[in-house]
Amino acid sequence: MKENEIKKYYLKKITEFETHNKLYFQKSNPKISDHEYDKLKKEILDLERKNSFLKSDSSPSNSLGYAPSKNFVKSEHRVKMLSLSNAFDSEDLGNFEKKIFNYLNKKIEVEYSVEPKIDGISASLTYKNGLLVLGTSRGDGNIGEVITENLKTILDIPQKITNKDFPKDIDIRGEVFIKKKDFNLLKNNFANPRNAASGTLRQKNPNQTKKIPLNFVAYTYGYFENKTIKKQSEFLNSLKKWGFKISEHNKILNSIKDLINFHKKFEHERFDLEYDVDGLVYKINSLELQKRLGFTANSPRWAIAHKFSADSAYSKVTDIDIQVGRTGALTPVARIKPVNIGGVVVSNATLHNEDEINRKDIRIGDTVKIERAGDVIPHVILVDLKKRDKKSKKFVFPDNCPSCGSDTIKEFNKITKKFDAVRRCTNEGFDCEKIAIERIKHFISKEAMNIDGFGKKVVENFWDLNLIRLPQDIYNLDYSKISNLEGWGQLSVSNLKYSIDQSKKVSFDRFLYAIGIRHIGLENAKLLAEYTKSIKNFMSFIKKNNINEFLNIDGIGDTQINSLKKFFNNKLNYTVIEKLSKILNISDLKLNKNGKLQNNTFMFTGKLLNMSRAEAKSLIENNSGSVVSSVNKRLKYLIIGDKPTNRKVQKAKELGIKVLSQKEWLNLLN
Ligand code: IVH
Repeated sequence: MKENEIKKYYLKKITEFETHNKLYFQKSNPKISDHEYDKLKKEILDLERKNSFLKSDSSPSNSLGYAPSKNFVKSEHRVKMLSLSNAFDSEDLGNFEKKIFNYLNKKIEVEYSVEPKIDGISASLTYKNGLLVLGTSRGDGNIGEVITENLKTILDIPQKITNKDFPKDIDIRGEVFIKKKDFNLLKNNFANPRNAASGTLRQKNPNQTKKIPLNFVAYTYGYFENKTIKKQSEFLNSLKKWGFKISEHNKILNSIKDLINFHKKFEHERFDLEYDVDGLVYKINSLELQKRLGFTANSPRWAIAHKFSADSAYSKVTDIDIQVGRTGALTPVARIKPVNIGGVVVSNATLHNEDEINRKDIRIGDTVKIERAGDVIPHVILVDLKKRDKKSKKFVFPDNCPSCGSDTIKEFNKITKKFDAVRRCTNEGFDCEKIAIERIKHFISKEAMNIDGFGKKVVENFWDLNLIRLPQDIYNLDYSKISNLEGWGQLSVSNLKYSIDQSKKVSFDRFLYAIGIRHIGLENAKLLAEYTKSIKNFMSFIKKNNINEFLNIDGIGDTQINSLKKFFNNKLNYTVIEKLSKILNISDLKLNKNGKLQNNTFMFTGKLLNMSRAEAKSLIENNSGSVVSSVNKRLKYLIIGDKPTNRKVQKAKELGIKVLSQKEWLNLLN
């Protein structure tokens, strides 16, 4: 990359960094996980290291956090509140130690104070003559917000300390956090416990802060008058003596190897803790050595945070629920003890299907490893068999639908010659409650009827209130009832009414998709709509029991035909469509009916030259012809490309169907 390109890229990353800082520090509402944030920071720092011409005031090498919020009085920290650099693996740890040796210019035996890195927000408490006189947030590391009154509402924070050896003037620093169990009660308002702690602590009104049980664990100091203490571990013990809470998991280790082993062990154990921990902090235990090593721009040379992998965590399966989907698929879902995975609290994990549960032998009560990557639904990676209770029993998958009690089956797949992994409810209609709800959710969705303001939650809510049972009920809602519901104002009700009315005008193919017939997705709905042209025509195919004729459509096969048959075998499904087609204005498919190829049917065999099948198909359709997929009397032309299927050509000849080469066919079109 050229210098100006590198600069451009660097500035792009800096802008991203600024945005996320603002979201995190000022709004307490991060949009990326901690892991992603750390990666971004590391990328910027790496770029700066490799390219000395890169510089920015907003670089993580200059700033510690974001400017404090405008809502609070500010106070300059007497000693900067620094951040820690991160290590993700043994190589990073090796480098950390190497740098220390380089700095000291010799190899030494190092003793480390190891402390869990509690995932909350840091605070500094200034005590003068044993009295808590000032409490601040970190702010940008230099200047913090004065939140003394809010901090005083935290029971773990002593307001008066009478021990004789308590320093006359000291800043005690530590982490404010919320316990997982308390967060559970607030989880609808915050993304994770750390945001809950940050949001609560920085309330303007301390009475609001008091309502939420915050905790404080102390781990370091800022200003320290007449310090006589020699080791970090000694300081931690003193903190305890003075009445502060310290972590019960603090310990002393002597080598990188031991640190790595402890990290491995602790990564498994951390989910048993009452609070979220996102890594371990290793600090050189000797305060004298700490002093010698000092700081780089914003982090100490004598400490490092060894992060846990962000995208997986261990937790306990508290229950296994079976969800029923729109197409009747039974999906087992593990309810797990809430666990923070990369900044998101996860309390459910999909178990995919019956086979997956059996294969991994996942049981209620098991400790499992859960992975969450990007937007993928969290899922179970493995079971920690060592932690399994001896009395635990194999999970028995239900034979009947948990929603409607119908039989369930695993279908036989003719192609793979195997039974499906998925078990399904055999109910084809709206009288399976769960299927009905899911079908309505599908009906209103963006790609279907696209009813704005009518989300999945609204469907569930209206269902519970008995306002909807079938899709057509959406067009017959009692709006006066809705405007009396909590969360619904005049404006939102009139917006909902507007988007419901708007949705009444719909194209035929969208409507076919919206019905939610299994195996009839957007593509197939379009194929069926193109073939039958109008809902009226489509329904007369159904009425006359002519579903098999759809086999003529290139792209529609046995799977779709069987699904359509099953669907329309159910009387209620049929009447739902009849009712909807009266309420809605379903527009016929506008196709060019007067093209050169009108009333002509085509079929392809063999590979075409310089043209895909899809292009060939649309060429025919744009000229009013249609493409079918089997050789029968209805077929007018068979177009042969390279290496055609002889059987098809033979049959066409037998039936007197015209056989054209690609060139001859294109000549028809001129
Ligand atoms: S020491 C200069 N010890 O991690 C030393 N920090 O990225 C800086 N944290 O802002 C702090 N547990 O919010 C220290 N045992 C611990 C910690 C800890 C959590 C947080 C703290 C700090 C951040 C550093």
